[in-house]
Amino acid sequence: MKKLLFATNNKHKLDEIQQITAGKFEILSLNDVNFMEEIPETSPTIEENAIQKARFIHERFLLDCFADDSGLEVEALNGAPGVYSARYAGEQCSYQDNNSKLIGALQNQANRKARFRTVIALIIDNQLFTFEGVVEGKIESQPHGVEGFGYDPLFVPDGFDQTFAQMGAALKNTISHRALATTKLITFLSTLED
Ligand code: IMP
Repeated sequence: MKKLLFATNNKHKLDEIQQITAGKFEILSLNDVNFMEEIPETSPTIEENAIQKARFIHERFLLDCFADDSGLEVEALNGAPGVYSARYAGEQCSYQDNNSKLIGALQNQANRKARFRTVIALIIDNQLFTFEGVVEGKIESQPHGVEGFGYDPLFVPDGFDQTFAQMGAALKNTISHRALATTKLITFLSTLED
């Protein structure tokens, strides 16, 4: 079975993709190759960060691999926090710090439009491919719900009246940016195996 190294140690992301690709690809994590260092994520865009991570891991291990990067882009903030979503309120900040900063930044702002974006960069047979997933929505003025992580309590996807944190993982994982990008990756990988 073909091996692919996923540049993550996030158990949730790993489980999700291992389930989807079961029987077709063997997905290894950074733990499986004993890589415990931080991967540099110093690029100015989500796409370039995903590519930077995939290239870094590919050069180190010479294995087919992929990496993902995600962020929240708020229209009234010119796309911020974007690539800086994890550290919007500072280097060691909590999800709650980020949410409080976002609520403050959008106070009295009528335009609440935002989108979550994921880019997955795949390097296979020394070729680079990228897959993008986007979910459009809006930012609430107060957090709602307790499930999920990050900006989930503030983000209501278009076509729904609940935040990601209210709807729960089962529904979120069918419509999320990450799910959409992952589906594109899986579809591509399946065509390779045929
Ligand atoms: P990552 O690249 O997947 O690690 O995401 C970077 C940051 O974007 C996270 O730390 C979160 O702040 C935010 N983010 C990404 N995906 C989600 C999501 O599905 N819900 C809420 N926040 C997210």
